[in-house]
Amino acid sequence: MAERITVQIGTHEGAEVAPDLWGLFIEDLNDALDGGLNAERVRNGDFEFNAADRESWHALTGWTATPADRAAIREDAPVHRNNTHHVRLTGPVTLVNEGYDAAADPGERLRFSCFARTSGEGARLVAALGGEPAELDVAPGDWHPIEADLDAAGEGRQALRLEIPAGSVIDLDCVSLRPIGTDGRALTFRPDLLQSLKDLAPSFIRFPGGCVAHGLGLENLYHWKDTIGPRHERAQIPNVWGYHQSRQIGYVEYFELCQATGATPVPIVAAGVCCQNYPGGAVPIPDAEMDQYVHDVLDLVEFANGDTDTTWGARRAELGHPEPFGLRYLGVGNEDQITDDFRDRYARIEDALRAAHPEITVIGTTGPQPAGPDYEAGWAYARERGTDMVDEHGYMNPRWFHQNLDRYAAYDPTESKVYIGEYAARSNTVRSALAEAAYMVGLERRPDVVRLASYAPLLARVGHTQWVPDLIYFTADEVLPSASYFVQRMFAEERGTRLHPVAVEGAPLVPVAIPAAGTVKLRSGGSEVEYADMVLDGRPLPDARTGPGDEGVPLGGIDPSSCELAFTATRRAGEEGFTMVLGPEAPQSFLEMHIGAWQNKSTTVVRSDDGVSCDIHGGIPWSGVRTGEPVRIAVRLDGPRVRLWVDGQLRHDFEQDLRPEERVVAGAASRTAADGSQEYVVRVVNAQRERRTAAVALPGPGGPVTAVVRTLAGAGPDEGAPHAPSPVVPEDSKVHGEGGVELDLPPWSLTVAVLKAG
Ligand code: AHR
Repeated sequence: MAERITVQIGTHEGAEVAPDLWGLFIEDLNDALDGGLNAERVRNGDFEFNAADRESWHALTGWTATPADRAAIREDAPVHRNNTHHVRLTGPVTLVNEGYDAAADPGERLRFSCFARTSGEGARLVAALGGEPAELDVAPGDWHPIEADLDAAGEGRQALRLEIPAGSVIDLDCVSLRPIGTDGRALTFRPDLLQSLKDLAPSFIRFPGGCVAHGLGLENLYHWKDTIGPRHERAQIPNVWGYHQSRQIGYVEYFELCQATGATPVPIVAAGVCCQNYPGGAVPIPDAEMDQYVHDVLDLVEFANGDTDTTWGARRAELGHPEPFGLRYLGVGNEDQITDDFRDRYARIEDALRAAHPEITVIGTTGPQPAGPDYEAGWAYARERGTDMVDEHGYMNPRWFHQNLDRYAAYDPTESKVYIGEYAARSNTVRSALAEAAYMVGLERRPDVVRLASYAPLLARVGHTQWVPDLIYFTADEVLPSASYFVQRMFAEERGTRLHPVAVEGAPLVPVAIPAAGTVKLRSGGSEVEYADMVLDGRPLPDARTGPGDEGVPLGGIDPSSCELAFTATRRAGEEGFTMVLGPEAPQSFLEMHIGAWQNKSTTVVRSDDGVSCDIHGGIPWSGVRTGEPVRIAVRLDGPRVRLWVDGQLRHDFEQDLRPEERVVAGAASRTAADGSQEYVVRVVNAQRERRTAAVALPGPGGPVTAVVRTLAGAGPDEGAPHAPSPVVPEDSKVHGEGGVELDLPPWSLTVAVLKAG
């Protein structure tokens, strides 16, 4: 029998719900743009791939020429100085593009285009997609565009095949193949992915990142002006995620995406420093170039909002958009380390924006994690400067989200507002999706603090991911939304405008305790490490060794709330450090202490709950493990307190979060329906294994009530995985009652109900 709870909606109309709260984060990561949202089917159509993108890549990556020696990459008199390479094809030769998992499905009609040039009498180019070939004449003379529509035919997906007959010599560049829209024009965005974004009803879209916004090194920093204008004039650069940025989706297309989805744009510009993960660190833009950079940022506002008689407003009109894009927010920086260089560059940009565009809400940055040194320093700096809004990030485990529902109740609403620019519970399971849902109820309750929030990352092509979990996976012809996708959609599609207090009774909080017993284990990933002088809880242990491929060495049983371990580790081979795992086996809570951690540059403590891990302390920068140099490690677990010493230095000293998890959460907001009546949007997360019935009472005098209900349920907490479709999809129903309704809350479910009298 289902347990009963009550959800009492208070009569008091509270604050206005943050109107732009739910939005999207787009970054070209996981082939999100090229190979994804960008409708382009040709891979490396500009012949600009190179070893700076990925070591094995070159200008003909993605292409196969037969015979190979009749296709030569050249740089003479390029189509544009930003597009320096092209291919010279000396017939007879066939050039095939592998596309993104080939180019087209049989039955599709696609628009082929390219730039070509030839000399002498002219030449002939034959283009086909497995079906009727298009025979195209290339007129003699300089670069000129060529275009034809091709029908794909044959068995399975077809690649683009170009043939140059004997006697023809053609230079080719900017090869393109795009689906055709109902207006007869080549499409910018892949339609099914675009639809999946529209269905999310985003209030805003953040772009172009993420790390892509500030790049690895100054050469890699994202300059918006390099990404507008005709495709062949755009500067293409390596992508921090190990591939290539064609910039076919540049600033104009991002703004167009906002228009297509009804979202307000939230561009993020670099804060005048590159990403600190660059081997040279967070390099600042040289002093002498900063004025120009600040101007570029101001020009962006003019480009987006300026009248057509301004320089950049006119440029926007020239690019097909006389109407302004309506920019209201602008982010400066992404997860930056709060260094003196950062402070200086950020201040110049923010000061200039405030002076020239006080109407723009500037969003500062508070580091990569929802706690720790950059978070503290970022917030301190924002307070000092009175920054309008700050960007907080948090990729944590599901338990963290439940424990932090009320995180923003402790924030001072007179300080900077908060944009939660990147967050996700680290897995694609139902458990994670519901933890996000619970957290989102918490975010919605604090409109005086939290103004914007976007799950990250958004898009990921199956087989080409650099980061998981993601919101929407896709293949060449399928869209695979995750459970988190449906959570985002259910929050965004039904929103109230005025908050109401909600009291939930009968649903217990879930206590969190340190497990009673566990083990300790050492392992060392890709390195060989020897361990000596080991003492566990006063007992000396024999020497041990871990190496690549082994499962690690168990040292014995421990009490995870009272344990002492010390040893000396010496790396004998490899590039990485080593890890201690303390606690019971998954899926219960355990700690991992990474000595060396990411790129062997830090020490980090990770906690895993319910099979999902996240960093809970650090990474604290460190010189790293060196081959042949012994490191003395000491660990002490004392109740929730965790301490870790490296070579006698106390590097980690903190308390584990043992606050109970709130696993049943409800929120409510009212709105005025089109017919003038009052409606209540009620969200209930049941992130527990018990089925429940919620008696939801409407404020007011009673009488008949109808609820239109959407429920996401039907799978266990650990179902759902990266690269796979969601194990749950929303289902709709209607219920009636007197003075309120009874909602069925299946185990592990999210319910969004719209209640109204009548
Ligand atoms: O969302 C993926 C990455 O996570 C972003 O690029 C970066 O800002 C964060 O570290």
